[in-house]
Amino acid sequence: MQRHFKFLALSLATAALTAGCATKPKPSQSIEHIMEAGFKGKESLSAKVSKGEASAAELTSMVDFTYQLTLNTPSKGDLKSWAEKSTALHAAAKSLAANQPGALDAWKAAVNCKACHSVHKPD
Ligand code: HEC
Repeated sequence: MQRHFKFLALSLATAALTAGCATKPKPSQSIEHIMEAGFKGKESLSAKVSKGEASAAELTSMVDFTYQLTLNTPSKGDLKSWAEKSTALHAAAKSLAANQPGALDAWKAAVNCKACHSVHKPD
């Protein structure tokens, strides 16, 4: 009986691992890199996006950056919060790229540096 349970637990663990890998690909860029390349400073891509001055090509790269964010796992903070914040940012970037009404407001709400850093940025 005990052996049977052990086997069951092992198969469940394997199934969970396999499912996890299938649904979430590995990020090709780290959060650190994305922040440096797309968010840091007054002249950053994200600042341009917030001012409504990003070109179509720039919006596409922001869609990519924010998609990479959703694939990452921050070293601090809980995963549910990270999923919400990064997904909201990615969704807003996609709406901007698709020229949808209200997209800029959604972006400005989601790109709140401090709200995310206070929970997910290690000291
Ligand atoms: C969705 C969450 C999120 C948002 C929004 C966000 N950041 Fe970050 N940022 C992070 C995380 C997480 C880190 C820590 C990465 C690490 O070092 O592990 C970070 C780190 C940084 C760093 C340090 C990078 C390094 O070299 O270590 C800078 C600079 C930065 N963010 C700038 C910004 C600015 C400016 C904004 C707003 C315009 C912003 N971030 C918005 C999550 C976010």
